[in-house]
Amino acid sequence: MFVTFEGVDGSGKTTIMEALACELRAQGHKVCATREPGGSALGKSLRELLLHTETKITKRAELLLFLADRAEHVATVIKPALAAGQVVLCDRYIDSTLCYQGYGRGLELNELRFLNSVATANLFPDLTLVLDVPIEIGLKRALSRADSSNTCRFEQEALQFHAKVRQGYLEEAAISPRFRVVDASQAFSQVLASCRAHLLSHLASC
Ligand SMILES: Nc1ncnc2c1ncn2[C@@H]1O[C@H](COP(=O)(O)OP(=O)(O)O)[C@@H](O)[C@H]1O
Ligand SMILES: [Mg+2]
Repeated sequence: MFVTFEGVDGSGKTTIMEALACELRAQGHKVCATREPGGSALGKSLRELLLHTETKITKRAELLLFLADRAEHVATVIKPALAAGQVVLCDRYIDSTLCYQGYGRGLELNELRFLNSVATANLFPDLTLVLDVPIEIGLKRALSRADSSNTCRFEQEALQFHAKVRQGYLEEAAISPRFRVVDASQAFSQVLASCRAHLLSHLASC
């Protein structure tokens, strides 16, 4: 089973995913918890470039770097883990490209859908949890993180950019049955309970 976690910065993806990975492992599941960008060996260098370079990157070059990260990640980490019967939990995946490079930066959505299918060799998630939060709350949480001094290029974007990204997630979720939207403005324990319920009901149906 392949589950992805999506949402704006500070929505709680990383924290929720770590908690769910622990719970699943405690229940005896083999879990591969990974992330984009940066889930593969090559990806570690690409992550640094994509999130922290001071060099200006044009939006198409940025897109292709994210897709290179994804292609390597799918081939060397996600597919082998799925083939070994593991539950794969991935912090950001194809929908981040649609929402940040498409809804956010204005690249053409159908081109991005096609390029995502090229990068992943058509590996789509079974379930995608969108942690939906007003962007002001998300950005405030991101700033309260322990490593908040290490802000990334995306966190420095204008509020309007993040608002378009959030709207993108909601629009994508409305047109595909693999999404579940969780109200991530709630207390952590409630967000975790909603995500757990979606995950377990999906696992039970497999
Ligand atoms: N529901 C919540 N309520 C309050 N704080 C939260 C909640 N979920 C996560 N946080 C905190 O907000 C910060 C950002 O969460 P994080 O998981 O890093 O978000 P993301 O990975 O989506 O950017 C962290 O310090 C985390 O502990
Ligand atoms: Mg995170």
